[in-house]
Amino acid sequence: MSKTSDVHDSLNVTHNQRHDVQASYQARRSRSLALIERMLRSYLRPYLPLLGLSIVANVIVAATTGALPWFIQMAIDEVFNGKNETMLLLIPVGVIAVSIIKSLATYASNVIMNFVGQGSTANLQRDLFARLMRGDLAYVSTQHSGAYISIFMNDATRLRDTVSGTIIAFARHLLTIVALIAFMFTINWHLALIYTIIVVPMGLVSMRRLGKVTRSASRQGLEETSELSTFIVESLTGLRIVKAYGQEDQQISRARATIDRVLDYTMRALRARAAASPAIEGLAGFAVGAIIYVGGYQSMQGNLTAGEFMGFITALLAVYQPLRSVANIQTILQEGVSAGTRVFSILDQKDAILDTPNAKPLKIENGEISFDQVSFQYAGRDIPALNDVSIHVPAGKTVALVGQSGSGKSTLLNLVLRFFDVSGGQIQIDGQDIRSVDLNSLRRATALVTQDPFLFDDTIANNISYGKQDFSQADIEQAAKQAAAHEFIVDMPEGYQTRVGESGLRLSGGQKQRIAIARAMLKDAPILLLDEATSALDTASEQKVQTALTQLMKGRTSLVIAHRLSTIMHADEIFVMREGQVVEHGTHTQLLDKRGVYADLYERQFDNGNG
Ligand SMILES: Nc1ncnc2c1ncn2[C@@H]1O[C@H](COP(=O)(O)OP(=O)(O)OP(=O)(O)O)[C@@H](O)[C@H]1O
Ligand SMILES: [Mg+2]
Repeated sequence: MSKTSDVHDSLNVTHNQRHDVQASYQARRSRSLALIERMLRSYLRPYLPLLGLSIVANVIVAATTGALPWFIQMAIDEVFNGKNETMLLLIPVGVIAVSIIKSLATYASNVIMNFVGQGSTANLQRDLFARLMRGDLAYVSTQHSGAYISIFMNDATRLRDTVSGTIIAFARHLLTIVALIAFMFTINWHLALIYTIIVVPMGLVSMRRLGKVTRSASRQGLEETSELSTFIVESLTGLRIVKAYGQEDQQISRARATIDRVLDYTMRALRARAAASPAIEGLAGFAVGAIIYVGGYQSMQGNLTAGEFMGFITALLAVYQPLRSVANIQTILQEGVSAGTRVFSILDQKDAILDTPNAKPLKIENGEISFDQVSFQYAGRDIPALNDVSIHVPAGKTVALVGQSGSGKSTLLNLVLRFFDVSGGQIQIDGQDIRSVDLNSLRRATALVTQDPFLFDDTIANNISYGKQDFSQADIEQAAKQAAAHEFIVDMPEGYQTRVGESGLRLSGGQKQRIAIARAMLKDAPILLLDEATSALDTASEQKVQTALTQLMKGRTSLVIAHRLSTIMHADEIFVMREGQVVEHGTHTQLLDKRGVYADLYERQFDNGNG
């Protein structure tokens, strides 16, 4: 009894599985269709007139291809057998004319298709880039920049090839096939029927099977390519560490392994593509055999002329190439679907951090900030980074945040800029909840100096004036002077026009910091968010940076994550953070007197000579 029920169960399982496979096939199929439709709707629509033109050109290609076998038939029947002298002249002239028209139409269609393919991909790339720039930090940082580069370059161009490939296959090759097969039917429907019955269904079957192989191989290929791109970006940015730890060989062999996998998947997809043609050719062999037999028999019966037979065979040979392309269409399409899915998943990402429908610009009166029972948890973390934090930063004052590494200090600054939104409580600037104001106005009102200052691979002047064209050289120099950076800048080989290299690689840590400070100085925002770098600077540069900071904080509401004793002592109030909570606050002296966490922290720093 139990045995039969087992068998029954297992039958059920396979039945269900088959059902699932069928369902997922259906789902994938409808997803492919949705994707194609979307590509047409959003990216090909502007090109519809051109596409129409290209279809006309392809109709001409198809018609002229269909005319060739007819000329052969005429040549044999009228000239070779009929000895018709007019035809002897007319046919070659006709063939030449038709060939010229065909090449012109082919050329026109190719140019148009390339234009459409390139243009629509360029638009897609524009959208993709804009999407990444405007996307939530939380989402964008889920993937490595290398992966985005790969999607940008590989997936987008793969999609382009699919667009032009598919349209050409449908407009040109399918029409050519129709024209040639129609011709075959006009000559002899017996033979045409034999041909169609043998070749077409088998071609369709192989197409469908190969399409599946291609889809999975090309998806994996693209994923591995992303992986490779990530790995390359990372190895190059971390090259110093790679070398310092003697990891060159390991990096090389890891890259090699990834490249091998890319090769493997790409070859799998290409093999599927390559298999499509021989499959058709093999089938065609059967068809030709059968046609010679049946055609020969009919000719013996006097039902088929030599010209008709030759015309038929010519059509049959001419139909190979378009048939091969059409057999490939499924594989090309599947490659495009894999690529498109990845591209559109980025485009479709919904942002959480948005302006509310009636967001008003932030009105700054004097720039006071208040954190009101703020809690926050990063996605994928099980403990909150901030838990019920209340901090008040009075207008024009400097509030310092101190605390162990990981206690949530930088997170607080991220929240003020709305890189993330609070999960509980609220943050107000001059009494306005920052979630209710226009995002741009919020970010215009704040200047941020991050823990690891980022410089663009551009000149020092452009790094200071970043994003603003309306500053004069004098403004820039003024800011640099206040940031104690002017001196070292003028000592550079090309002064303010010196390029700083990738992420400012050609500058020292302290120099980078001072340029970042000059940038914030020039922005001249009423609110300053400063994440001091922990890296210990030598006393001279430390002093310079400190002077720069003091200048910067003057007259602004400043929320400063402080590591330098000098910054801390000058602060109007200090908040001590621990595990996402404020554990103490007060002035430097008040906190020292308390002999609590702060006093502890302070003494330890002082002992280590880091204070
Ligand atoms: N983007 C992020 N995604 C997930 N968790 C994060 C992210 N950024 C920070 N965290 C986590 O949130 C907590 C607080 O981090 P935060 O960067 O605010 O610390 P911090 O006080 O600035 O430390 P440090 O002094 O070392 O700069 C840490 O546990 C950290 O691991
Ligand atoms: Mg930090």
